[in-house]
Amino acid sequence: MDATIVILDGDGIGPEVTAEAKKILAAVAERFGHNFVFNHQLIGGCAIDQFGVSLPEKTVEAAEDADAALLGAVGGPKWDAPSSPDRPERGVLELRKTLDLFANLRPVKLHPQLVSASTIKEETLVGVDLLVVRELTGGVYFGPRKEADDDFEAYDTMLYTRPEIERVVRLAAESALGRRRRLTSVDKANVLASSRLWRSVATDALADYPQLDVDHILVDAMAMHLIRRPADFDVIVAGNLFGDILTDEASMLAGSMGMLPSASLGDMRNRHSLPLGLYEPIHGSAPDIAGQGIANPLAAILSNAMLLRHSLGLEKEAAAIEAAVDAVLEEGVRTPDIKQKGAETVSTEVMGNLVVEMLKSNPDNQDVERAQ
Ligand SMILES: NC(=O)c1ccc[n+]([C@@H]2O[C@H](COP(=O)([O-])OP(=O)(O)OC[C@H]3O[C@@H](n4cnc5c(N)ncnc54)[C@H](O)[C@@H]3O)[C@@H](O)[C@H]2O)c1
Repeated sequence: MDATIVILDGDGIGPEVTAEAKKILAAVAERFGHNFVFNHQLIGGCAIDQFGVSLPEKTVEAAEDADAALLGAVGGPKWDAPSSPDRPERGVLELRKTLDLFANLRPVKLHPQLVSASTIKEETLVGVDLLVVRELTGGVYFGPRKEADDDFEAYDTMLYTRPEIERVVRLAAESALGRRRRLTSVDKANVLASSRLWRSVATDALADYPQLDVDHILVDAMAMHLIRRPADFDVIVAGNLFGDILTDEASMLAGSMGMLPSASLGDMRNRHSLPLGLYEPIHGSAPDIAGQGIANPLAAILSNAMLLRHSLGLEKEAAAIEAAVDAVLEEGVRTPDIKQKGAETVSTEVMGNLVVEMLKSNPDNQDVERAQ
């Protein structure tokens, strides 16, 4: 298959993890006989430095013309001044909005090898396999706002419309049909008007899915249930802010932020008539460890697997990446964020190289069959 993939390194550890992710894509192309063209573009702080804006027009055009895009992460203290006319994070938000990527799929799967990396008790983690579907182009991140220009008053508005809620709830319901058929809709309907609309729309839409076991949970209680009984959940659908916070919390079920990939999808189609998606680890630019070569690249690498599956329809290749990651973890290879007591750790680059080696050393595809 021929495919063009836009690579958006971003800032901080962004370029460190996308460098490894790109190696994996190149190894997949070689092993399975595909032709992937990589188109590097700027977004975030590096784009502000070079072009004065966090989302250059060239980047948008490249993403629109591509089959998929892979993003590292953006942001950092250098661009954090409240008076800045533009911010790195605005670039990512605008790209998601421009491509109308309204659903952010965040699978949270515990790799059994990482049970001890989690801060949560082993017996609570058994069976954790959930998918958070986060609404991505609405809610408080996009509603009317006022900066505290007068240093006194500022506000953000959580605004949702019926169609915005309905499309993401339906997408989550369709995902649940292909999984364990449980769907939890999260809101704050006891306090927020936008959440009362969310609950009403979700209830109406989910009436079309009698096969699903549906419940509605308030976000504050959900934060507790996610840690107390995470294995009970299958698909969780939530608004932009709630989904963002809950998935950072859920990352600890998987051991580290460095383990969670994501796919942002909408209705746009690429030249293969598949969803044009933006794929990124859920973590940020991690300025505290940037430049040290110790970031975990597995979330970015696993985002590639989602890219191949959703935007290119390459299921076997996606499973090969996931199997290679599992095999490397099985061998005890760890970056510092998932390190085992007393064990040695490897750098970002070594982790990437070992996943590539694992991918290449399995010509018979046995790992893929095992993973399926
Ligand atoms: N989509 C994005 O680009 C995105 C998402 C979230 C945050 N951000 C930005 O990132 C910057 C830093 O934010 P933050 O510190 O709150 O969140 P963060 O996700 O960057 O980091 C949180 C913690 O997790 C650790 N961590 C994150 N990714 C890791 C990895 N791959 N390997 C090992 N450890 C990892 C970091 O070292 C840090 O201790 C901010 O500017 C924020 O706006 C960007």
